[in-house]
Formats: sequence, C-alpha cells, structure tokens
Amino acid sequence: MNLIVGNWKMNKTPSEALEYINEFKPLVDEIKQTETVIAAPFIYLPMLKKECSKTNIKLAAQNIFYEIEGAFTGEISGKMIKPFAEYVIIGHSERRKYFNETDDIINKKINSTLVSNLKVILCVGESLQHRKDKKTTAFVNMQIKNALKDVKKIDNIVIAYEPIWAIGTGKTASAKQAEEVHFFIRKIIEKMYGIKVARELRIIYGGSVNHLNAKKLINMPNINGLLAGGASLDPISFSKIINSAK
Ligand code: PGA
Repeated sequence: MNLIVGNWKMNKTPSEALEYINEFKPLVDEIKQTETVIAAPFIYLPMLKKECSKTNIKLAAQNIFYEIEGAFTGEISGKMIKPFAEYVIIGHSERRKYFNETDDIINKKINSTLVSNLKVILCVGESLQHRKDKKTTAFVNMQIKNALKDVKKIDNIVIAYEPIWAIGTGKTASAKQAEEVHFFIRKIIEKMYGIKVARELRIIYGGSVNHLNAKKLINMPNINGLLAGGASLDPISFSKIINSAK
C-alpha cells in the first residue's frame, strides 16, 4: 500500500492544528487504499490521536531521543510517543543540519524506535554538490549502511529518499531522477537483507512534492509513497496529494 506522509515540521498553533484536522478528516474519509500519516509536533500528537480515532489517519513523531528515560532535559523518548503515534521520522536532513545529527546518532535513534515498537521513516538524500560531483549513490549508500548498522530486521522501516536540494526549494526531483535512486536503494537493501525484504521495503520520495507532481512520482515502479512538507500544511492540498496516489 502506498504511504503518504505529511511533515508539518515546526508549524501551526494548537488551534490551527485542531482546525486543520477537522477540515482534513472528511477530505480523506473515503481513501482506504493509501496509508495516510501526519507527522506533527510532539505536543499535538495526543490531540490528533483523539481526533483521528475513528479514521484511517495515522500519526508520526518528527524525532525521538535514543534513551528510554532519565536525565535528558527537553527530550522525548519512544515509550512516551508510543501511545500516540505509529511512526517516527529519523534522520531528516534538517535534523542532520541544524541539530548536528550524525549517522551514529541516527543509528541509535533507529534502534531505540524499533525497541519501542514504533516504525521508522529513515530519511536519506544527497546535497546538490554530491549530485554535481556524481556522488549521489555513494553518499546514499553510506548513509543507509551507517544508519542500519547492526539493525537485524527492517520490516518496520520505511526509507524516504529526500534529496536536500529538493527540500523546500520547489525543485522537485524528476520522476526519472527519483526512480533511479529508489532503484539503487532497493539494490542496497537487497545486498544487505536479501531479495524478499528488498521487494517488500517501501521507499518513499520527499522534496517539493505537491498535488501537481505527485501522480507522476508515485507511478514509478520503485516509488511507494511520498513525504510532503510545505504542501501538507494545507488540508486541501495534502488531500489532493493523497487522492493522486490512489
Ligand atoms: P518539502 O519538505 O515538501 O517542503 O520540500 C519535504 C520534507 O522536508 O520532508
């Protein structure tokens, strides 16, 4: 089943979040063949969980800390998130950039998420310079290998290919560019975990996705879903993306 994730990032007030979900629910009411996930700021997850209880809408956290509990002021752990969300986004390029998250930290966060019985949306993707230097596949290969170091089972992992140059820039990767990298990611996973696991892995694309380019992207053989940032902030535009992925 295709997976469409809306990443709100650090947006919306509490009342805006409530208004959004009330407008969004009827728009996606009929959609059963696409898995819909909203990745909201931590503090909105309990409210959204309640509001979405009779719907097919699932929730994700945008981050997690890798320890389960203790003296880590300001952090949130998997066991705190578990009652409210099903997924956690890990390794988003904004976290790598602004919060200095290394592959090692990302690896710890993946392990902690899985231990907490949550599913991982692991983000990888190259910079514009990597692409210009033809280092896209080498870089993505390294990110995946480091992130999944000692991870034995990946049934609960989704990989999101998010080229940094496409995030928030309006410069979406073409369907062909995205498909090439998705195909390559599947090959890496095949080498690491075998063909069956690789075939079943969902690889989603993110980076300036909108309702106009969604269909073309989702129609590619190795693109199993989309991760939208800016275009998920408006319930109508996000529902159009979900509709185009049916
Ligand atoms: P964007 O963000 O859709 O605004 O480019 C995508 C993301 O960062 O996940």
